[in-house]
Amino acid sequence: MPSVYIKTYGCQMNERDSEAVAAQLVAKGFTLAPSEHVADVILLNTCSVRDQAEQKALNKMENVAAAVRRSRPHVRLGFLGCMAQSRGRELIDRLPDVDLVIGTQKSHRTADYLDALFAGRLDQVVDVEEEKGSEAAIHEHLINRAPAVPSVTAFVSIMQGCNQYCTFCIVPYTRGAERSRTIPDIVTECRELIDRGVKEVTLLGQIVTSYGKREVGERNGKSAFVQLLEAVHEIAGLERIRFTSPHPRGYGDDLVEAYLRLPKLCESAHLPVQSGSDRVLKLMHRGYTRERFLGIVEKLRRARPEMGITTDIIVGFPGETEADFEETLSLVRGISFDNAFCFKYSPRRDTPAAAMPDQVSREVIEERHRRLLDLVNEIGKSKYRHYVGQQVQILVEGPSRKTPARLEGRTRKNKILVFEGSERHRGRLLDVHITRSGSFTLYGEPAILNESTTPGKAGGFES
Ligand code: 5AD
Repeated sequence: MPSVYIKTYGCQMNERDSEAVAAQLVAKGFTLAPSEHVADVILLNTCSVRDQAEQKALNKMENVAAAVRRSRPHVRLGFLGCMAQSRGRELIDRLPDVDLVIGTQKSHRTADYLDALFAGRLDQVVDVEEEKGSEAAIHEHLINRAPAVPSVTAFVSIMQGCNQYCTFCIVPYTRGAERSRTIPDIVTECRELIDRGVKEVTLLGQIVTSYGKREVGERNGKSAFVQLLEAVHEIAGLERIRFTSPHPRGYGDDLVEAYLRLPKLCESAHLPVQSGSDRVLKLMHRGYTRERFLGIVEKLRRARPEMGITTDIIVGFPGETEADFEETLSLVRGISFDNAFCFKYSPRRDTPAAAMPDQVSREVIEERHRRLLDLVNEIGKSKYRHYVGQQVQILVEGPSRKTPARLEGRTRKNKILVFEGSERHRGRLLDVHITRSGSFTLYGEPAILNESTTPGKAGGFES
């Protein structure tokens, strides 16, 4: 059977879609290739959120196509994901070596299409149609199945699409309208993952706080999303629940209160603010003011004082003045985010912002981006330093990505912690003593409470 290599660009939703496609291909008998150089099928799962992401995937495909044309002409090439959806056939017109373009609602058909291509039943595939029920088609996992992909954490896609229509964002056009899976369906998938050794799930969607608005609805003052959190929380053996990304508007009191009731819900929140200026927030169509955002953060910190809060910020949105930008800086300083992902505004086709007046020049965007990054890094450094000396719980995920001789895990606040450990620690919830902080990384040592030898003391380090 042919082997497949999938390269993924962009968000966690894309990571998850790629994994599901890979699992579906494996179930059909395809194998997974360790690199593009030996694969019979090369798929790029693309991102459209900024122009840079599109250019990267286009350049990659151009290079891949040139290489396989020379030496391995049997290789099939395909685009999946948001750029496949938004550009469709245009991609084949531009890169005629491409055999498949599969839109975001059709990724579960990849295996069938590849079968048809290899059997000669089809010559080329472009399928970017909408498909009813496609939100429930992403449920297969490779995790802890042959070929073994050991993992104690998993992403679970709970919904697709977005109805928010922020004026800068291409996602509603590439992912379609909001569609949610059912609670029992999601719980079943989580349960299966727990049975396979997973300890932590991250519920995924473009805008998870809008989960099930239409399909599930409110009950007893609880949003559908909170009902889902409660149902997932019930699963025995599950230790931790996370979700991403929420919309600040979705932080009703029911969700804030869920942090008090549901101990598996980790005290970290990724709250994309985008700007600190009311004028810009309005132009962006975000649906909240600076004041309201500050209020949400305050409520969350009241519920869990040590809540880790991260955000996304766009600099150089059309019309953003120096005064608007300074409002963003002061908001970042005031909230003291644990981390902020800072993006340079990138005009996207068909979005209202691309046609707005007063587009900000590249130079100004670069300069503001630099200043914002400096501030975010300075705050991050002092926040991380503040953790040194504390004892925290981590879930050990496996070898450290930066230094594979060591292990890493995440704290409940979603901070990566690296420590000297061994394979036997993998999958364990471990108390660690934080000894040092680096750039958005913590370092520590396992700490064990040994009450019989050190009565009353939280001391004693494992050798
Ligand atoms: N330009 C720059 N950044 C963008 N984002 C979304 N659209 C754009 C754009 N046109 C950012 C937002 C979002 C994150 C995933 O990407 O900050 O939260």
